[in-house]
Amino acid sequence: MTVSLETKLVVSSIALLAAVSAVIATATTLLFHDFLIDRLDSQVTSAAHRSTSAAAQPGDTPGSTPPQAREVSFLLSPGQAEGTFGARIREGVVRRAAVLTGIATVSEVAAPPSLATVTREPVTVGLGPLGDYRMAAARTPDGDLLVTGLPLAGVTSMLTRLVIVEAAVTLAGVALMAAACTVLVRRAVRPLGRLAATAARVSELPLANGHAVRLARVPEADTDPRTEVGQVGGALNRMLGHVETAFAVRHESETRLRRFIADASHELRTPLASIVGYAELTRRGGERHGPQTTHALGRIRSEAGRMTTLVEDLLLLARLDAGRPLDLVELDLSPLVVNAVSDAYAAAPRHRWLINLPDQPAVVLGDADRLHQVMSNLLANARTHTPPGTTVTATIRLGERVCVEVADDGPGIPAHVLPQVFGRFARGDGSRSRLAGGSGLGLAIVSAVTAAHGGRVDVRSVPGDTVFTLDLPQVVR
Ligand SMILES: Nc1ncnc2c1ncn2[C@@H]1O[C@H](COP(=O)(O)OP(=O)(O)OP(=O)(O)O)[C@@H](O)[C@H]1O
Ligand SMILES: [Mg+2]
Repeated sequence: MTVSLETKLVVSSIALLAAVSAVIATATTLLFHDFLIDRLDSQVTSAAHRSTSAAAQPGDTPGSTPPQAREVSFLLSPGQAEGTFGARIREGVVRRAAVLTGIATVSEVAAPPSLATVTREPVTVGLGPLGDYRMAAARTPDGDLLVTGLPLAGVTSMLTRLVIVEAAVTLAGVALMAAACTVLVRRAVRPLGRLAATAARVSELPLANGHAVRLARVPEADTDPRTEVGQVGGALNRMLGHVETAFAVRHESETRLRRFIADASHELRTPLASIVGYAELTRRGGERHGPQTTHALGRIRSEAGRMTTLVEDLLLLARLDAGRPLDLVELDLSPLVVNAVSDAYAAAPRHRWLINLPDQPAVVLGDADRLHQVMSNLLANARTHTPPGTTVTATIRLGERVCVEVADDGPGIPAHVLPQVFGRFARGDGSRSRLAGGSGLGLAIVSAVTAAHGGRVDVRSVPGDTVFTLDLPQVVR
């Protein structure tokens, strides 16, 4: 069972207090019980003494005493308290037993059998309905055994009162302690809550996107090194500081790398254009070349073309990574898809090309060139990674968002490529052939452009059914 620290602290403090109170109360009760019994025993001893003294006096039997009460007339001696029990035992037989009920009045009671066992040391004897008595015995000069006793009721009622008071005080103490403990513990753990809130705020930040971030910090008040929570708060702040610095350094180096890629790609465009231009010029120049030179010029042109595409792709990715703003306008995706499919059909007429468009315009806020590039990358994949005769279907669906699907019934994406198919330079083994000509950046661009439009792209692929799904925010006109 999971219990909060606050509950644990409060419950354990209360349990501890209750246990200590119980021990103190028990010890007090036992000590008080012993003290009261001792006091009663000494009263019983005095009463027994008075009884033997009264029995020894010659005028033992006042005239007014009824004959049956004479045996216990020692109860009437001065100083005996009301309720005193007295019995005379002669030759082991109880002659009479009575209790002093008022001034000079005694009332006879039934003698319990255990009366014969009473000695000089006071013991407890039960008198039935009259309750328990402490009794002591003493012998008269004429050999009779006089048993004198005092009721235990006073002791019992005092102990009962003590236990009630102790229970009430303990309960009140526990209730007070619970309230005070809850307030104090709550106040003590409140800084922990603030630390947790700071940690939670930091954990919700999108740290994976590589941007430099300003991380929340624990308030200054919770970083006092003299307190345990303060030490944790201070350590958390230092850690957040390190994380922030690490992110800044990483961001800085990524920015530098991006800028380098962008600059390098940019710089490569001109010489590449020159290579393509000169190759073309040489081919068309009218000079006669041998077959080998003609082949070499053709290769130079095609490889330079491939490299131009690669450089353009790298430049675009570097710009998207750097968060360069797109040229956003409200545009209908339907004509864009139709154009892209027409281009694809022109490039691969032996595939079957199908289009499903909605009745309504599919309006999004987008960069027309970039979205066209997305569509042509997806359609180029459906064309280059599938055999002729494959059916490719481009569908636009309207819901809360605009959903564009490019599906084909080709062989599907190789299983080992599928998990990172949107990664950079991820491509299937087949694409390494010069013919396919792919660099593995096509889907990375699809993913980056879609993300820059606030959308997302997904793929599912099994042999015979490969579907790329773009999801873009719809503009409602
Ligand atoms: N429709 C598809 N059918 C089968 N495989 C696919 C399909 N689309 C993508 N792939 C696989 O995913 C890989 C990555 O695709 P991506 O478009 O990123 O790179 P590429 O097509 O190889 O190169 P580029 O697009 O840069 O010219 C491809 O190499 C291919 O193996
Ligand atoms: Mg591709």
